Amino acid sequence: MSMRDVFEKNPERRYIMFGGKGGLGKTTFSATCGYWLAKQGFKVLVFSVDPQASLSDIFQRDIFGKGAVEIMPNLYAQEIDADRRIKDYQNEIREKIKKMYGLEEVPEEIENYIASTSAEPAMEESAIFDAVVDIVISGEYDYYIYDLVPLGHALYYLSMASVYDQWIDKITGLRTEMEEYNKVAAVMQRNKESEEDMILKELQFIKQRINTSSGILTDRLKTAFFFVVTPEEMIILDTQKAAGLFAKFNVPLSGYVVNRVIPAELAAQSIPDYLRNRMTMQTKYLDKIDKTFGDKVVARVPEFERDITGLAMIEKLAGVMFGGE
Ligand SMILES: Nc1ncnc2c1ncn2[C@@H]1O[C@H](COP(=O)(O)OP(=O)(O)O)[C@@H](O)[C@H]1O
Ligand SMILES: [Mg+2]
Repeated sequence: MSMRDVFEKNPERRYIMFGGKGGLGKTTFSATCGYWLAKQGFKVLVFSVDPQASLSDIFQRDIFGKGAVEIMPNLYAQEIDADRRIKDYQNEIREKIKKMYGLEEVPEEIENYIASTSAEPAMEESAIFDAVVDIVISGEYDYYIYDLVPLGHALYYLSMASVYDQWIDKITGLRTEMEEYNKVAAVMQRNKESEEDMILKELQFIKQRINTSSGILTDRLKTAFFFVVTPEEMIILDTQKAAGLFAKFNVPLSGYVVNRVIPAELAAQSIPDYLRNRMTMQTKYLDKIDKTFGDKVVARVPEFERDITGLAMIEKLAGVMFGGE
């Protein structure tokens, strides 16, 4: 199967992801895939959940925190501003507390608690995750391409159950905290029942959102997940390991894309030994990749003469990945 086949034979797979170690080409392929699908007439959103997102670099546009930005007809790109999301989320909590207790201002102990949550790494992940849920649930696009963070983190997004648990912890934690506060400030008038209702409603709302998005992420019919691999020993080993882990999370794997293959036609030219040696090494590992991943290898992408930035380079790469047009 070729890359093009994966898309043409599975038109219902509308959530596309590229996984793999940092620097292998995930962002590059996300953008290129988005470009090709947009050219096929689909409305596509490429979005990044990577705090070190480089969609701005590849599209040569400053898109960070600006929502979905149109790159060309049918192609939109978005980089999520996690800090902004955390601040919005904290404000939401503040508003809820004030409303719930009829307060003018959030009490200091609670304010301290809220401030401390932003220092937790899980908070950033949750904030980004929440933004992803918003994007995916909106259903505005034909295709959603997730420009993923490196492997370990990708697993985090894919094991939604744990994210969900963290959310619940956060909210029940906050609730306990508030109860304590209530004991201290005994004057608080409140309606116990309606407060419980509100918290429960909130939990159910979150649960429903998470179910929707994790359902999509692990849905074999709707998701295409690709691993990016390069012809190097360590990368092959790491990818094998990661593929095993992903299988455990039921992530549907659509194929492996091999990147940075030195063009074979160079061998016929007079080239330095240095390059010839590297090519021999690559040949060995390309064989290994074929043996290991077999017919799941959907594309071999050459090492280009320069990095892939701007639509002209992306178009060139799309030609290689998907064939002409
Ligand atoms: N086939 C290729 N030829 C030349 N440069 C490439 C190729 N694939 C990726 N690159 C470059 O390598 C760098 C890392 O790629 P990137 O897609 O950002 O990796 P990741 O998102 O996996 O961290 C970028 O500068 C990109 O332009
Ligand atoms: Mg990247």
